[in-house]
Amino acid sequence: MSNYHIKHLEEYFKTHRKSVREPELFWEEIAEEHFVWRKRWDKVLSWDFRKPEVKWFEGAKLNITENCIDRHLRMKGDKTAILFEPNDPNAPAEHITYNRLYERVNQLANVLKSKGIKKGDRVCIYLPMIPELAISLLACARIGAIHSVVFAGFSSNALSSRINDSECKMVITSDGSYRGSKTIDLKGIVDEALIDCPCVEKVLVVNRINAEIELKEGRDEWLAPLLETASTECEAEIMDAEDPLFILYTSGSTGQPKGMVHTTAGYMVYTAYTFKNVFQYRENDVYWCTADIGWITGHSYIVYGPLANGATTVMFEGVPSYPDYGRFWQVIEKHKVNQFYTAPTAIRALAKQGGSFLEDYNLSSLKVLGSVGEPINEEAWHWYNDNVGKRKSPIVDTWWQTETGGIMLSPLPYITPTKPTYATLPLPGIQPALLDESGDEILGNQVDGRLCIKFPWPSIARTIWGNHQRYKETYFSAFDNMYFTGDGALRDEVGYYRITGRVDDVIIVSGHNLGTAPIEDAINEHPAVAESAIVGFPHDIKGSALYGYVTLKEAGEERNHDNLRKEINQLISDHIGPIAKLDKIQFTKGLPKTRSGKIMRRILRKIACNEMDNLGDISTLLNPEVVEEIIKDAQQ
Ligand code: WT7
Repeated sequence: MSNYHIKHLEEYFKTHRKSVREPELFWEEIAEEHFVWRKRWDKVLSWDFRKPEVKWFEGAKLNITENCIDRHLRMKGDKTAILFEPNDPNAPAEHITYNRLYERVNQLANVLKSKGIKKGDRVCIYLPMIPELAISLLACARIGAIHSVVFAGFSSNALSSRINDSECKMVITSDGSYRGSKTIDLKGIVDEALIDCPCVEKVLVVNRINAEIELKEGRDEWLAPLLETASTECEAEIMDAEDPLFILYTSGSTGQPKGMVHTTAGYMVYTAYTFKNVFQYRENDVYWCTADIGWITGHSYIVYGPLANGATTVMFEGVPSYPDYGRFWQVIEKHKVNQFYTAPTAIRALAKQGGSFLEDYNLSSLKVLGSVGEPINEEAWHWYNDNVGKRKSPIVDTWWQTETGGIMLSPLPYITPTKPTYATLPLPGIQPALLDESGDEILGNQVDGRLCIKFPWPSIARTIWGNHQRYKETYFSAFDNMYFTGDGALRDEVGYYRITGRVDDVIIVSGHNLGTAPIEDAINEHPAVAESAIVGFPHDIKGSALYGYVTLKEAGEERNHDNLRKEINQLISDHIGPIAKLDKIQFTKGLPKTRSGKIMRRILRKIACNEMDNLGDISTLLNPEVVEEIIKDAQQ
């Protein structure tokens, strides 16, 4: 009996029970029936969260691109694999069939090889949302190179620190990118980043915007001429199940981003399985996820999960507001999109425009609506449900993380009754637990606590690149023998989960996971700044926005505050990217601290959120008097 495709609620419960009782048998059956392996595994799972170490399908040999491309060629070579919708609404969409994808991936794989890239080498990909981006991931996977995609909105500083952390030998980029009516000079950003990256030997450049750029002799080359002469056949490198497939950076609570390492077999099995069930994908459906491939959502649910199922996946280069706020709806109508997966921040931005943009378009193809990246508030949920889904398309509120590789909590559409703001139930294979502050599991319903996962699932990140100790400390030290997510959650009377938000120093702004520490580090580089602390506060569209408290080295300098504010935001833009800019900056004489010198963010957060009457006990602070002053200034 195949468990692969769940169709009824009873079946979901049965499958989940089986996955808890016999996890190895459960995943083994799925792996066996739905993928091609060059060699079968010797052992389904070995794990120890205390070490920590997790291995799935040990001993198996495979190549993920044979599963995502080659095996579909016989039955659906002419089916569209990637449907590319460009930024310019008047430019033609591009239908890349599985046959053509096979050729293009192999050509690029051959180019990479000819430039000296071998199995295990790291390749940084810094590209806009164009087909070459997806093809680059797959070409790396074809030859066993480890891809490290850096979102093309990150600054040159952020790019160079990521390149250096994993010592990438190559960067694949483009001459520039389109973003609505603007163009962005990506190659210029790469050039600046590479001043500090001695490890990079080669840069391959896609021509996207016909920009006049400089090619550095011996280092940079246009990609197109190399592809033209490359063979369309490239033997797939045979990988071990636990060989790294990619590194993807996520922010943490210290300055250095964490390079999460995902491995081959488990990641493939889990993303494919969850894609099929969470979106209830059927053979001729057109599926569209609006995320950028620079984030895990794009890796798992634009590229690997859909292609492993032989699906048609839309790649959109543009933005929701260009040429106007009807763009998403126009694309849905044009391509008759069946499953649409986006972020609450986009939903709120579109809701703010009202329903008028929607009226012009026929959205009747839609069957499933997805949400990801941050808690979806009740208002946005209803707007999405009423106006986009016309109360006919269930919303799947999918909770997961870069670290989890795939969706962990989500309703199954047409199967699990939905409830606004609830990610509802764990997918098969997932064993969530809520823990209290002393580390005890909270049983029963109508409770809340810190969200942990008790048992490994196939796509859990295996380590942080180059820093296994940090991996252990971040995820496996807060609670014994558990993976700690960093999120708080509640479980309602029927056992549904609702994510209440981060309980650490990570703030989710417009769905982007931002650590406070790297932002504070950037601010503190300003010569006038002594100290800073960042907290989140509620924002209509972004969900949360950033509020910075900054103390200056010399009193009086704040008189120049407008300039200082600009300079501080410029520093943040340079170091991280414009997404991390502060909405509010308050200059203060001091920051509230504990007696051991730790900044009390809890108090600053309350002030930023305008919850001053409920600050809790501040008498134990080292400097309670600064709190009064901060409140006074905040209210001005
Ligand atoms: C954090 C992970 C998963 C891909 C995109 C984000 C928050 C994510 C939800 C949701 C409430 C959510 C959590 C999580 N988050 N999805 N459906 N409801 N919160 O990946 O950048 O690694 O961020 O995003 O706080 O821990 P990420």
